[in-house]
Amino acid sequence: MKLFIDTANTEEIVITENMGIICGVTTNPTLLSREGHNPREMACKIADIVNGPVSYEAVSTDADGIVREGKEIAAIATNMVVKVAMTSEGLKAIKRLSELGIKTNATLIFNENQALLAARAGATYVSIFIGRLVDRGVDAIGITRNIRMIFDTNDIEAEIIAASIRNTEQVTQCALAGAHIATVPYRVLTEMVEHPLTTAGIEKFMEDWKKVSEK
Ligand code: E4P
Repeated sequence: MKLFIDTANTEEIVITENMGIICGVTTNPTLLSREGHNPREMACKIADIVNGPVSYEAVSTDADGIVREGKEIAAIATNMVVKVAMTSEGLKAIKRLSELGIKTNATLIFNENQALLAARAGATYVSIFIGRLVDRGVDAIGITRNIRMIFDTNDIEAEIIAASIRNTEQVTQCALAGAHIATVPYRVLTEMVEHPLTTAGIEKFMEDWKKVSEK
């Protein structure tokens, strides 16, 4: 499973990019609004930092509007991906954008049928919102496993992005369920680095090294 970072914060993107752990970025209007800068300028900066796909959401609700925005988003940089909300108009827009060779990320997917429809419309990525489902007591990991099975059985090329990740355990579960990608917040990525035994092990090695290096 590949890892994207789910943020619009350029510092977080630079740090994780320099660690070599991420190969893409997902943003959404909420994440962009937290940064308080011009969103298109931020997208431009982000697309410059990472070589991989950068998802940026079209906010129009009609297919024509989404396609118009999608063309503008795609023109920002070659690695831009147009995020499109899972609606009937969104599906029409995904079809038209994919015919134009513009990559799309179908967002706000909550079940197998929505994922199948988005993939059939031509989405490059389908984003299943794990955390929001788990918050409602739904087996989001089971749904992710089913989507992967449906895609594999039907030779569907769209990649599954596990989004709305709340903790490190969900990252592991999504990897086991067959998500192609998890888009993970910075806090969770940093927690994934750590283990108490690693910290204790480093302290012990340092302590012992001091003893031997003083000889
Ligand atoms: C994914 O692309 C979304 O931006 C994101 O994961 C949503 O997460 P949330 O449920 O924490 O808002």
